[in-house]
Parts: sequence; C-alpha cells; structure tokens
Amino acid sequence: AILILDFGSQYSHLITRRIRSLGIYCEMQACTFKLSELKFKPKGVILSGGPNSVFDADAPHADQALWNLGVPILGICYGLQEVAYKLGGEVAPCEHREYGSATVSVTEKSALFEGLGDSLDVWMSHGDQLSRLPTDFRIIANTRTAPLAAIENTAARIFGIQFHPEVTHTPRGTQLLSNFAKTICGCKPTWTMESFVDKEVERIRQLVGPTAQVVGAVSGGVDSTVAAVLMKRAIGDRFHAILVDNGVMRWKECETVKATLQEKLGINLVVADAAELFLGRLKGVIDPEKKRKIIGLSFIEIFEQEASRIDEELASHGESKIQYLLQGTLYPDVIESISFKGPSATIKTHHNVGGLPEKLKMKIIEPLRELFKDEVRALGSILGVDEELIWRHPFPGPGLAIRILGEVTPSQVEIARKADKILIEEIRTAELYKNISQAFCVLLPVLAVGVMGDQRTYEQVIAIRCVETTDFMTADWYPFPYDVLKRISGRITNEVRGVNRVVYDVSSKPPATIEWE
Ligand code: XMP
Repeated sequence: AILILDFGSQYSHLITRRIRSLGIYCEMQACTFKLSELKFKPKGVILSGGPNSVFDADAPHADQALWNLGVPILGICYGLQEVAYKLGGEVAPCEHREYGSATVSVTEKSALFEGLGDSLDVWMSHGDQLSRLPTDFRIIANTRTAPLAAIENTAARIFGIQFHPEVTHTPRGTQLLSNFAKTICGCKPTWTMESFVDKEVERIRQLVGPTAQVVGAVSGGVDSTVAAVLMKRAIGDRFHAILVDNGVMRWKECETVKATLQEKLGINLVVADAAELFLGRLKGVIDPEKKRKIIGLSFIEIFEQEASRIDEELASHGESKIQYLLQGTLYPDVIESISFKGPSATIKTHHNVGGLPEKLKMKIIEPLRELFKDEVRALGSILGVDEELIWRHPFPGPGLAIRILGEVTPSQVEIARKADKILIEEIRTAELYKNISQAFCVLLPVLAVGVMGDQRTYEQVIAIRCVETTDFMTADWYPFPYDVLKRISGRITNEVRGVNRVVYDVSSKPPATIEWE
C-alpha cells in the first residue's frame, strides 16, 4: 500500500485515484498526520502539492518520522519542496510563475521515467521552484524554465518532481506513478473489487458479531443500495433497511425501490410512509435552507421512530437489539474531512442523514468508506445490482422539494414528478443518459401566457437542467441535441397539466450551482 500525505493541493485526491486505478491500495492523510497512528505499513509515500511556500514560517511539514521510514518517497510540487527543505536544498520564488502545459526533458536514466522516453508533456502549477539541489541528489529532468524539474537520491530512493503527474493534462502521468508504486516501491496490483468484497464481508461479520442487528437508510441511489446489498451478504436478515417516503420523491420511486431491494435483492425492507407529515411541515415554506432543514430533521425523526419500532419488535421475539447504523459514506467524504485546509463557506446545507448517528447512539458501519464512486459501481456490479440502478444520476436528499421553487404543495409535486419522468424517459430513449451526469426538471412558480387550441393559458414554467461534470464541484451545461430537446418540450407541455412553457438552463457551475435551491 501507498501512503499519500496531503499538503492541501486541489489535486491531492487525484493521486489517490490514479494509484487505486493501478490496482494498488492507498490511503490519504493530512500532511500533519502522526505516522505512529498509521494502521498499515506503507511500501512508499507520496507527498502532494500544496498552496504554501515551504520556507514560510507557517508552512505545513510532514512528521519527522517520515524520513526514517526507509521506504521510497515521491514529492510532487510542494512535496518536492518539502524534500528540499528537509534534505538540504533551497527553494526560491520563480521569475516566471508557471501555470499550464510544459515539456519535461528527461536528462538522466531513472526508474521513475522508465518507458516514458526523452520528453514528457506535463502540467505545471507553481510559484516557487527548486534553486539548489538537496544533498546527495541528482537532476533527472528539466524544463525550459525549471532546471530542476525532477530530482532523485538513488540510494535513499527519494524522488521529487515539480509537475503534477496525477492530472489528465499530464497524459502519461499514470505511467510515472506506476513506475513509482510498482517498480520502485514494489507494490503488487492486488486491490480488486472481488478481494474487497471478501475482505469487507469478513470485517462486517467480525464487527457485528453473531447476534447483533443493523439498520440503515436506503434511498434508491447507488451508494445506499450497494451498502445494503453488502450488509445483506454479510449478515442476512439481521440487516434492516428503512426507506422514508418523504412525499417529495420521484415518480413511483417507493414502488421501484421496494421491487428492487425487497423483491429482487431479498433485503429486509421497511417503507415508512411519511409523505403527509413532510408535506404538512413544508406548507407555506419557500426559503430553500428552511426546506432543507425541515426535511433533514423530519427524516431523522421518522427514521428513529422506525428503528425503535423494529427494535421493539425484535425484542418481543427475544432477538438481539439493533446496535449498528449503516452509513453509505464514500472515500471523497472521508478525504473531505481529513484534507489539509481551512474552513470554507457554506453554500448549501447538504442533507445526507447527517444528524442521525448522534441521535441514535448506535455504532456506525461504513463499508464503502474506502471507495470512490466508480469503485462502488464496480462493487454493485459484482453484487448483482442492476446496471440501470448502478448508473443512476445522483438525487439530492431533499428531493423534489428543492426542484420546486417556492411553496411545495401536493399539486406542485405532481407537476414536478410528471415532468421529471418525461425528461428521464426521453433521455434514456435517446441513449444520452450515460453521457449526462445529472438531468432534472425545475418547476418555476412564475406564470406565463400561452395559447392552447383557441384558449389563452396562464401557466407555470419548467426549466430543464442537464449538466456534465466529473466531481459535481464544477459543472457545465450539457449541449443537448435540438431534436431531443424539442421532443421533451413537446411532451411536457402536452402531457403535464399546468405547464405551458419549457426553458433550458444554460448556466455553468460556478457561478450557478447544479440544483436551483
Ligand atoms: P449543487 O446544487 O450544490 O449540487 O451544485 C451538487 C450536487 O449535490 C447534490 N445535492 C445534494 N445531495 N443532499 C444530497 O445528497 C443534498 O441536500 C443535496 N443538495 C445538492 C446535487 O444534486 C448535485 O449532484
């Protein structure tokens, strides 16, 4: 396994992704992490980039123990400067700050550049660069403006590169990372999904023991479904899935989840019908953050009630109590919480059953916490989850409530549901579903004049929102083929009562967000 220490670069998580894509297990920790707390023995360490200048008084530095581990080290950008700082080199601000593409010339034979030839197109992003070689190091590559673009201490197996091999703008960067992880560190590609299933099922069984019970919320999305299937595989009917119908779910969503989880995958499922309660509490509310809060808190309340009910029922049969709560946390959330960075502004309060654990006083199980989204999908495939569900677009916890601007009433929900159903149907028919990262309709409570037959109409507007994105942090609107858009618009205005106009949202994120609320 490889350890990655994060010095705060926006690309750090990509290093993790690339190493994992090689079939090698790796974990990322903040740069200040105490190595004595590490739960595995790394065969190599990668130091990420970061926004600081290494000689600044408040610049972050790795645990001193790193330099005595005796395993190969690769410093990237700030990581290179950290190597220089520790081992007798010098760093200076560049005359020309370098952001963008550059060509690296490989000047010395090195295991790091094995198979990459004499030159390599790379991505640079830095304001400082190495000005003096650390003790016992040699230069192995340069660029036009950076004479020390890559260095190595062959005996100590410590390497430093100024560019970013982890980004797609360094096309052969994965090969370089592979050289480091496989050749230099000697890691074997043993991290496969099959091995993960066996290991995780065993871990869950050990953790839960032979009698305890587990509850978990399911939503119909890929993460909660895959987590549930994994639990079912590990402990069978001692896992209880709860689906809360909050009244703002998609067209026939509850029925679909039931058919999939209960009937097809054989999971113990309880559907808590709380639609009326949620819609009652949402009455008259227009503020997006208030809607999110109401739905989040009500969700916790209903889930808790349902869990207690299951608990009592189990007790009445003399069965063991519920002791664990399943959470579908993924690795990006884990990274988010360990990354080295300052506080950032809250744009929206995302609801992901956040308050549950404190309230329920249960122990948490997070079987997906080591996985990225594409790994969860691969896992789902292995576990027999339908491809259609596996590739489902994400759907926000607060559901249609944040896609119905203004007040959420049963009649507005009906309109939003019908429009959404048509949109998704047409996108699937046109075979565009997989090309789009997220597609949905937003109901705008403004009235526009239209004409139908010989009648004047005065009705609401549906905005179609379709985006392409890899990480949902930034997104671009999807360049929809006109004929499909035309068909969708025609169907919505014809089939959805109360809508006489359809518009297409052509805003990127930023400055817009993906959802409208
Ligand atoms: P924004 O609108 O912030 O959305 O650009 C980014 C992604 O997050 C989803 N989203 C949510 N997901 N609970 C969720 O589970 C939420 O409260 C929530 N709000 C937004 C959104 O659909 C998009 O994929």
